[in-house]
Amino acid sequence: MIKTDYELLDSQLHALLDGESDPLAATSNFVALLYNTLAEVNWLGIYVLRDDELVLGPFQGKPACVRISFDEGVCGAAASTLETQRVADVHAFPGHIACDVESRSELVVPLIVHDQLIGVLDIDSPITRRFSVKDQAGVEKLCRTFCALQETRKYFI
Ligand code: SME
Repeated sequence: MIKTDYELLDSQLHALLDGESDPLAATSNFVALLYNTLAEVNWLGIYVLRDDELVLGPFQGKPACVRISFDEGVCGAAASTLETQRVADVHAFPGHIACDVESRSELVVPLIVHDQLIGVLDIDSPITRRFSVKDQAGVEKLCRTFCALQETRKYFI
């Protein structure tokens, strides 16, 4: 079982983002920190809400599909329900979009700023059942930290 120190990661995230006013720089570092810290992850990035669809933003991993509508895939499910999607086996998820054929499990967390959806954080793993309930809670906390910092900015990613 993979164990991650989410409290440490949260303090590292604060150290990295506190005081940085540029949302694109902050978002890029958010993604880079998580990608390089979480074990067994092959793709990690943000899909940003643009009008009524999700558009690829800062990410680490192989090139990915650019646009996802609300009725498509795991990301669309997270955006339309505003609930985290923790998928143990992506092949068992109806409508899953396979951007990287290596992906076996996935965690997608909606990003909410000022009570509005601004996008989703998408994490893919090459192993099934990678993400536990504790991982979900830990990543959701990191997303709340990231979103709270976005609230202080003039504009979002
Ligand atoms: N698998 C996602 C699509 C994005 S990629 O994983 C980068 C989905 O089903 O929404």
